[in-house]
Amino acid sequence: MSSFYQISKFLEYKLNAVDRHSLQAPFIFNFYENVMKGKKRSGVFDKIESYRRELLKNETLIAIEDFGAGSRVSKSAKRTVKDLARSGLSSRKFSEMLFRLSDYTESVDIVELGTSLGINTLYLAKSSPKARVTTFEGCRESAQIAIDLFKRAHQFNIEVIRGNIDLTLPGFAKKTNKVDLVYFDANHQFDATLRYYSQFLPLIHADTVFVIDDIYWSKSMGKAWKELVQQPEVTLSIDIFDAGLLFFNKDFYKEHYVLAF
Ligand SMILES: C[S@@+](CC[C@H](N)C(=O)[O-])C[C@H]1O[C@@H](n2cnc3c(N)ncnc32)[C@H](O)[C@@H]1O
Repeated sequence: MSSFYQISKFLEYKLNAVDRHSLQAPFIFNFYENVMKGKKRSGVFDKIESYRRELLKNETLIAIEDFGAGSRVSKSAKRTVKDLARSGLSSRKFSEMLFRLSDYTESVDIVELGTSLGINTLYLAKSSPKARVTTFEGCRESAQIAIDLFKRAHQFNIEVIRGNIDLTLPGFAKKTNKVDLVYFDANHQFDATLRYYSQFLPLIHADTVFVIDDIYWSKSMGKAWKELVQQPEVTLSIDIFDAGLLFFNKDFYKEHYVLAF
């Protein structure tokens, strides 16, 4: 269910988005070719997608504990797993892009805010044998389904931190030295997005990348994205409509791209 705001933002995005023919700078051209339009496939994709298909058929009812901006689709406290998988997870295309992004940036210390059923956690965890993924989830029953999935997939490089991110993230940030890739996909609200961003800032380095999901989910997320792009430490920002990417390498001139995805 799309709001008028989302539709108008999508049309604006379509009018502004550029593809490889307009990209001159080598970093952004290579990034576009390898990450956005990358053909690199991995044998693990089909396996993860078979788990997604199972979730899409799973009729188990689970209790939803919502600490975030919630869901536009269903406000009921109980939902089937298949309903959650249909409305709460990203597309396969986006998941594969996340995998390529993590691979291309050689990310090791990866954080995901918002595990849900664990599909994108698996994509990130399988992006490199060196990857260490920490994923945060507040809803106990969703987190348990994800944990069971990681066990079945023999994926042991994932740590799940359960509870409200407002309470769990400060402790994690204190004991962590660096982050290479952070995928923000939990509480889609202005204040929370900016707060989480600032809690990760002491952990970034020149090659860190942040992925902010659902930047046009609501006016408040659109405002948060605008604000993040303007932060002084952000040197490159990329809008792909479904998400926004932020880079911090001081060798870049400050630039903003709207890329066709
Ligand atoms: C869109 S889903 C995540 C989807 C997942 N990243 C994927 O792509 O497969 C968002 C998740 O964030 C969780 N969440 C939202 N706000 C939270 C908070 N403040 N603390 C902990 N979890 C939160 C929700 O329970 C939900 O499972």
